Amino acid sequence: MSRGQPQVNPGNIDYENAQLSFDENGQPFIILREQDKTNRLKGIEAHKANILAARTVANIMRSSLGPTGMDKMLVSGDQDVTVTNDGATILEKMEVDHQIGKLLVELSQSQDDEIGDGTTGVVVMAGALLSEAESLLTKGIHPIRIAHGYEKAVDICAKHLETISDSLNWTPDDVSSLHSTAYTTLGSKIINRYQDQMADIAVNSVLAVADLERKDVNFDLIKLEGKVGATLGDTMMVKGIILDKPMSHPQMTKEIKDAKIAILTCPFEPPKPKTKHNVDINTAESYMELYEQEQKYFIQQVQQCKDSGANLILCQWGFDDEANHLLLSNDLPSVRWVGGVEIELIAIATGGRIVPRFEELLPEKLGYAGMVREVEFGTMSDRMIVIEGCPNTRAVTVFVRGGNQMIVDEAKRSIHDAQCVVRNLIKDNRIVYGGGSCEIACSLRLQEEVCKDNTVEQYALQAFADALETIPLALAENSGFSPVNTLSKVKAAQIAEKNAHLGVDCLQRGTMDMKEQRVFETLIGKRQQMLLATQLVRMILKIDDIMTPSEY
Ligand SMILES: Nc1ncnc2c1ncn2[C@@H]1O[C@H](COP(=O)(O)OP(=O)(O)OP(=O)(O)O)[C@@H](O)[C@H]1O
Ligand SMILES: [Mg+2]
Repeated sequence: MSRGQPQVNPGNIDYENAQLSFDENGQPFIILREQDKTNRLKGIEAHKANILAARTVANIMRSSLGPTGMDKMLVSGDQDVTVTNDGATILEKMEVDHQIGKLLVELSQSQDDEIGDGTTGVVVMAGALLSEAESLLTKGIHPIRIAHGYEKAVDICAKHLETISDSLNWTPDDVSSLHSTAYTTLGSKIINRYQDQMADIAVNSVLAVADLERKDVNFDLIKLEGKVGATLGDTMMVKGIILDKPMSHPQMTKEIKDAKIAILTCPFEPPKPKTKHNVDINTAESYMELYEQEQKYFIQQVQQCKDSGANLILCQWGFDDEANHLLLSNDLPSVRWVGGVEIELIAIATGGRIVPRFEELLPEKLGYAGMVREVEFGTMSDRMIVIEGCPNTRAVTVFVRGGNQMIVDEAKRSIHDAQCVVRNLIKDNRIVYGGGSCEIACSLRLQEEVCKDNTVEQYALQAFADALETIPLALAENSGFSPVNTLSKVKAAQIAEKNAHLGVDCLQRGTMDMKEQRVFETLIGKRQQMLLATQLVRMILKIDDIMTPSEY
């Protein structure tokens, strides 16, 4: 420092953080960071700033937890309105700017990707863990000790969850327990007026495509379609595919039994050369010649379809009126502009091949469906094609109806949540009970551990136990009960009756026993919630230096 330090200090340069270097000629020079342009928080200040940011986000989510939780309305920059109760969706649409806030958004997203449900709970849990950590930090406990303690606590909880879990015995003929779990998931959503019907749809759609031997569910085979109109109660599941397109001509047959489907990705058009070209037409004769040539192509293409034995054409491209008329007069019902994804799905379901050239259209490449029909909704302009009775019946479509786009979108999200839960049960049939009962049970288990621990980590275990109680507290608060009174009642009852199934009776059914109320949650979902929340909290606790550009 002494050799490189100039005599005069130009401006207020922070020499403490400057670095002395030498160029190739041995001349000294000083490297200065752009120190003025960064804000810096260090040590406990950094921890507190991060925790505050995370708690703010978690507090927003708290009121959405549980069957009596509130929904949020989010208006985007271009005035799109979303009303939802789904944690991951709320956070995604909230456009959180803060770095730590963004971590919580990702937390909820990873719960959504892995499990599908529990996305609100995981954020509330992370917020509670951080809030407890803050008071430990104030007591002077080192963040790493807190992180270790939390890690130990979550291990104990994960093991305890397994001991209080029950295995569901379900068979394809008796799906009542799957239904109950899907029912619990749907309880907190706007669509809970039709909870029973939606739970049925979720269970049936997943079972229709599930591979029970491999314990796997391919969600690509489930299509969730929605259309505004009618009521939520008209939502239905079709064992097949729904195409949001009408027949290309209104006079075409509307019902085709034993459909043999040609799935085309080539347009009904004369072939176009791929190079630039001009066609000069000078005389009426040459025009007629060109016209006839075009006609020949159309006739040939339609004939090729007829020859293959197809009685329905699905085309990825459009065709003009000429071709449309020819198809109609040849009694070949057809659908144009079918999307690429749908084309693939239809090919899988009907066992057909996607044909890229008319010359390749052979009888064995046709797909088969027991019944294809065009259905009308509300006004004449709302027409769709339903393809049912496919040999590969594993593809299903859930067709959601609702009064407006917001409801339809939320219903789709909710059904997806419920489907994820059913999928999780197919993978692992163990469940724990909801209403905060398993959180209270884990909390009580941790209390036992606290008494045995003689290190400073006992404080972290105690803090984890307290944080777990936030879930039942929030559930009680959202239901309009006195949170602390309710919690102490449930806790006392759990200890007295040695029953880990007692939770907050949010819907006032008259019993705290969640087993009796059939409030089921998947074990893997609950465990994942605790693990993910702890993982994130550990990460935040390890940050002790925040450098941000000052204009941030
Ligand atoms: N009938 C019920 N009685 C008591 N508690 C219930 C009942 N139904 C659900 N719960 C509880 O509500 C909580 C789930 O609430 P909610 O579905 O709003 O949030 P989430 O599952 O964490 O997030 P999201 O569904 O938005 O992904 C769980 O703790 C569950 O045990
Ligand atoms: Mg839920």
